[in-house]
Amino acid sequence: MANGVNALQTAILEHQHEIADALVERGYIVLPNFLPQASAELLYNYASSLPQGEWHLAGVGREQQHTVNTHVRSDEIHWLNPAHPLEALWLEHMELLRVSLNQSLFMGLFDYESHLARYQPGSRYQKHLDAFKGRSNRVLSTVCYLNPEWHDSDGGELVIYGKRGQVLEKIVPRQGTLVVFLSDAFVHEVLVSNRLRLSLTGWFRHNTSSGQRIDPAQ
Ligand code: OGA
Ligand code: MN
Repeated sequence: MANGVNALQTAILEHQHEIADALVERGYIVLPNFLPQASAELLYNYASSLPQGEWHLAGVGREQQHTVNTHVRSDEIHWLNPAHPLEALWLEHMELLRVSLNQSLFMGLFDYESHLARYQPGSRYQKHLDAFKGRSNRVLSTVCYLNPEWHDSDGGELVIYGKRGQVLEKIVPRQGTLVVFLSDAFVHEVLVSNRLRLSLTGWFRHNTSSGQRIDPAQ
């Protein structure tokens, strides 16, 4: 466990400036082999052994608009809870990245929410945005893939589209690849996966609970 933790911290420290630069220049970055193998294995084994009761069908939209539409999206999710040590491992390291991005880009990222996602064979997530301009507190999306030995024929690619609908990237979900992108800037989709596909997805958010003010007076 200790090796996995230290290596993950090193990975963040090594990549933080590259991530910040790419967000400014292009709005997204794809980092193959970001996640050290020991951490990836820990998280993959954990996700693989989570009992069915810990997963639920993902919804589309938030709060009043929240609906489960398996035509658009047929993955299952498990929200991470910092009370669980291995879930905290990922959350704490994304916290390092949050602080770093705030220091270099003044992004005002307030917190991070994250879930494991599980696509059964035949599952997909059709074209969507993770946030709509001015209407969501999701600022930056992260996706990190956990399956070892993913082959091109396994499908499940993440496709990122540009402003004119052109394909910018088609990302094979290989173990350890991290993708970070501005949540309101890129339409994206997950193509049908031919194999059980496990990933960690998360969002750095602005604080919109009280007109952007942190720590409001009680
Ligand atoms: C999402 C999403 C991408 C992926 O969960 O919103 O777009 O590659 N995931 O899993
Ligand atoms: Mn998405």
